[in-house]
Amino acid sequence: MLEIHNLTVKVGEKYILDSIDLSVKKGEILVLFGPNGSGKSTLIKAIMGLSGYNISSGDIFFRGERINDLPIEKRVEKGLGIMYQHPPRIRGVKLGQLSSFLSPSQSLINDLSSKLSLREHLSRDINLDFSGGEMKRSELFQLLLQDPEFLLLDEPESGVDIENVSLMGKVLNSYLRENNKSALIITHTGYVLDYINAQRACVLIEGKFWCAGKPREIFDSIKNHGYAKCRECRCPQTE
Ligand SMILES: Nc1ncnc2c1ncn2[C@@H]1O[C@H](COP(=O)(O)OP(=O)(O)OP(=O)(O)O)[C@@H](O)[C@H]1O
Ligand SMILES: [Mg+2]
Repeated sequence: MLEIHNLTVKVGEKYILDSIDLSVKKGEILVLFGPNGSGKSTLIKAIMGLSGYNISSGDIFFRGERINDLPIEKRVEKGLGIMYQHPPRIRGVKLGQLSSFLSPSQSLINDLSSKLSLREHLSRDINLDFSGGEMKRSELFQLLLQDPEFLLLDEPESGVDIENVSLMGKVLNSYLRENNKSALIITHTGYVLDYINAQRACVLIEGKFWCAGKPREIFDSIKNHGYAKCRECRCPQTE
């Protein structure tokens, strides 16, 4: 589904990602760990093609096609979708209006907005004055309506209360499993691992991959030893 070779990314004059290699198969879920500022969101934004994230070397292939030079809307058409760490607020556009644009199925909109407790938010401006958790649910709602083949999820559970983490985790898990979708999920808290059957994880530190392995094992190691053990590991099994 997604193949990244030797990717180096610059923002302005600053190198953020350094010679990244990554591969995710159809139906596979990869978890990305790493300390603050290590380049996780940058990786997701570069895959999505957001402006300002400049590829200075390397290739991104999605479903067999090199997408380095494709604009963001073409990447969306090909099946990439993003859930932002810090979602934009859009004054003057109702969540319900955007929903109808994203999906032709009113029954899907009704069903999903009910499951994610967002029915009354449909008549409000997108993310404007939504609480932190509501904004994350709204992001997931918008993403699933797009029905992407590959989901880029940037800290989906950050700022979400335990009950709503469970709600979102269950909705996301059934969507991924029933449709055999692929995903790359960034998490600090690890809560999402309780709901999603992720096969692999890797750790990004200072723009490079350091170690890879089973998500729960890596998460427990980070919890107990910080990122020090990941630095010692140096086994970039990201294939
Ligand atoms: N548009 C930008 N302009 C300047 N610096 C940027 C920009 N985008 C990212 N950076 C810098 O790149 C580095 C990596 O940022 P990034 O958002 O990818 O980190 P992260 O791993 O997602 O961190 P966190 O866990 O805190 O979300 C940071 O030092 C950040 O300040
Ligand atoms: Mg981030």
